[in-house]
Amino acid sequence: MTEDYFIGVHARELERLRDQHAAWRSETQALWARAGFTTGHRLADLGSGPGFAALDLAATVGAGGSVTGVDKASPYLQFLEAEARRRGVNNVHVLEADLTRAEPGAGIFDGAFCRFFLAFLIDDLDGVLGRIHRSLKPGGIVAAMEYLTLESATCSPPIRGFDAHTRAWIAYYRRNGGDATVGRILPAKLERAGFEVTSVECVGGTARPGEPWWNWWGRLMADFGETLVADGLMPRTDLQALRDDWTRISTAAHAFIYTPVLVQVVATKR
Ligand SMILES: C[S@@+](CC[C@H](N)C(=O)[O-])C[C@H]1O[C@@H](n2cnc3c(N)ncnc32)[C@H](O)[C@@H]1O
Repeated sequence: MTEDYFIGVHARELERLRDQHAAWRSETQALWARAGFTTGHRLADLGSGPGFAALDLAATVGAGGSVTGVDKASPYLQFLEAEARRRGVNNVHVLEADLTRAEPGAGIFDGAFCRFFLAFLIDDLDGVLGRIHRSLKPGGIVAAMEYLTLESATCSPPIRGFDAHTRAWIAYYRRNGGDATVGRILPAKLERAGFEVTSVECVGGTARPGEPWWNWWGRLMADFGETLVADGLMPRTDLQALRDDWTRISTAAHAFIYTPVLVQVVATKR
């Protein structure tokens, strides 16, 4: 296996990515529609992980098109290949590559998609955008769905530990060379890399207990709380209080959260 990404490469994270895809699926498909991804296209899913989006994209482009899942984590790519076989999907390919170093191709793709990916590559963002640019055909399209901010995350009623948990995630990204505000710099960086930005939209918002975005944010607390404590980013007392309060309000009909905001950018290769 190539070098891990700091969130982790293991079975539980794979299942979290499956749920995360389901939670953001309709917004993701709306982005693909704005990008004009369609039948016959040859697309790349960059930082595809286990490829739940890639498998949906494969249906969008149909048998005459193809999708290449590109990731540096071989276990995720093995899962994607096996899952494609299991579903009888023949137009999904995989490419194991570290996109901070390797080119995903030269002028071969009609479009490239990435989601929850560029926040990990801040130190080499210009280089990665240059590689994406070179991988596209003239007029090729990139569609990116990335964090704009985590600071929008809030909870009603206010509960103990919620803000500390959000602050810990922001710090966790920074400590590992990432940045959860990548969406703020992305459009300008895309222009500088030789793209014309044609569309910018934000997604995220209100979620009530039991709804997909509520479960998505709660799952992060459950799966990563201990890591945030162990890394000294969040006091254990805050995590315990958060878990108690989150469980309590998860049955309150009036409770809601506002999620982190993601930005969706579509840009065309000039
Ligand atoms: C949070 S996951 C998102 C997966 C997928 N895009 C999704 O939305 O479900 C981030 C993925 O980026 C991959 N990744 C991180 N840094 C990478 C790099 N330098 N080159 C290739 N893949 C990378 C990780 O291995 C991981 O699978």
